[in-house]
Amino acid sequence: MAALRALLPVVRRPLRPRPGCAALRPFASEADFKYILTEKKGKGRNVGLIRLNRPKALNALCDGLMAELNQALAAFEADPVVGAIVVTGGEKAFAAGADIKEMQNRTFQDCYSGGFLSHWDQLTRVKKPVIAAVNGYALGGGCELAMMCDIIYAGEKAQFAQPEILLGTIPGAGGTQRLTRAVGKSLAMEMVLTGDRISAQDAKQAGLVSKIFPVDTLVEEAIQCAEKIASNSKLVTAMAKESVNAAFEMTLTEGCKLEKKLFYSTFATEDQKEGMAAFVEKRKANFKGQ
Ligand code: COA
Repeated sequence: MAALRALLPVVRRPLRPRPGCAALRPFASEADFKYILTEKKGKGRNVGLIRLNRPKALNALCDGLMAELNQALAAFEADPVVGAIVVTGGEKAFAAGADIKEMQNRTFQDCYSGGFLSHWDQLTRVKKPVIAAVNGYALGGGCELAMMCDIIYAGEKAQFAQPEILLGTIPGAGGTQRLTRAVGKSLAMEMVLTGDRISAQDAKQAGLVSKIFPVDTLVEEAIQCAEKIASNSKLVTAMAKESVNAAFEMTLTEGCKLEKKLFYSTFATEDQKEGMAAFVEKRKANFKGQ
């Protein structure tokens, strides 16, 4: 509930209607979603699937879509059954970026005072693991959104780019930072300065994505990975995620200190006792997230 409460203020914020992307009613139920589809998948319905669904605009990330995405993430985060989340788009596009038509007339004053894009990083505060399943275009904000996820799986025709420079701007949702950390300076700089796209294969070679699958099996593969993650201790999984993410924020010494504290903390959990007992007794562990 604490996580849900932390996310709700953003969801509740009134959204200004923009052309082609109407404002949302606050607290819309799942059935009210206009730009996304949500479903629980997996044998135990323990995987939350969010599909960006604005195909005519290649899933351009308008305000309404981002608000719905945050709302769905908050709901899955608060759902005690869900252990991992998959975010995907369509076969042609994961997302072709921030909505250019929505932002073209924004002013500096407007961006600065309104904190433009500041609510996009709600995804990075979700404790449950999030897998991006990327088919087609992941451009600009689409690439940035995928990079906010914990794991990226790509369909074999996926394309990644930060083409903002071609529009006279630069990435504004972490692209210059997360891409550089993922693929190193030279490739990140080349992508950001030229706007060129890289293929799924190049993205895998560079370490941006962990696996590539055929287009039509990608989402199922991501769900299977999410199910595997969800079958482990939810509590300890959150600690593992926190510890890996700390590698991007801390020095090696600080990160290793945090890891050690979290490692010690797992010994205070019932799930560590259960996991090790199950190993010794040669049976499957039954984790309760305690
Ligand atoms: N914002 C708003 N609308 C977008 C969009 C975006 N980022 N990307 C695509 N669309 C819209 C197009 O305007 C078009 O709408 P229309 O039919 O009303 O004209 C529709 O989606 C289909 O796009 P279109 O360009 O006709 O498809 P395509 O197959 O010829 O090209 C892309 C696909 C992805 C190469 C091209 O749409 C593109 O370059 N998009 C912008 C990518 C970008 O710069 N992203 C970073 C934004 S910061």
